[in-house]
Amino acid sequence: MTDPFGAAEEAAAAVAQMTGVPRHDVAIVLGSGWGDAASALGDVTFEGALSDVPGVPKPTVGGHKGKLVSVAASGRNVLVFAGRSHLYEGHPVHTVVHGVRTAILAGCGVVILTNAAGGLNPDVAVGTPVLLCDHLNLTGTTPMLGADPPERFGARFSDLTVAYDAELRALAHRVDDGLPEGVYAGLLGGTYETPAEIRMLRTLGADLVGMSTVLETIAARHLGARVLGISLVTNLAAGISPEPLDHQEVLAAGKAAGPRMIALLQGVVEGL
Ligand code: HPA
Repeated sequence: MTDPFGAAEEAAAAVAQMTGVPRHDVAIVLGSGWGDAASALGDVTFEGALSDVPGVPKPTVGGHKGKLVSVAASGRNVLVFAGRSHLYEGHPVHTVVHGVRTAILAGCGVVILTNAAGGLNPDVAVGTPVLLCDHLNLTGTTPMLGADPPERFGARFSDLTVAYDAELRALAHRVDDGLPEGVYAGLLGGTYETPAEIRMLRTLGADLVGMSTVLETIAARHLGARVLGISLVTNLAAGISPEPLDHQEVLAAGKAAGPRMIALLQGVVEGL
């Protein structure tokens, strides 16, 4: 992608045309295990393949449907990405954040990023949604890689002091007052971690570990959108978990927590 911002502008125009919705208000990216939430949010006015959006590759991970859904919910137009691209699939960083950039240029001022994550805190049970209060970008890359972005898109060096919006977190707490908060460590992924890596991450202050989200958050903050990040703890991380880790377990935990996650997303959209 030689001109990632131009590509996102083109994709945003395509989204408006495909969905018949000139401007969306809220974007929701559904991670592993969050797959069925879109239709529960409100009236589905459009559903199509995510890969029909120019610049979006077909997702390859089981549990990600690869759908783009437009939902009318609580008077807002919600653009749902059921599936996302990951670095470990071999996609360039600008491809990984293309959907989020597209959504923001299609009008979304709020971006809700969900994911499945390993839990490093043994006190947070599997199946618990956790609000991200901060992150460690350990992917070794950034969506700000490359030539200076066009000036109209925001500063070259974004301030990430408050990457995850405090007001959106407060709203999420009002919707579901038992939610813990945590720091998410985003890794390149491709495998789950070793126990030694998990001990390192704990020392670094991480509560959650996963293979997504951090790059999308950076891209969204650069474009001035407010971000709410929510991890579903689908397993205890390697060495903390008494069991070996397995993707089926991740999907099963998502299914079990489905109703709570849907109620949370519904409540947040309603309260915006
Ligand atoms: N590690 C990394 N990513 C994950 C995990 C994990 O334990 N669980 C779900 N996604």
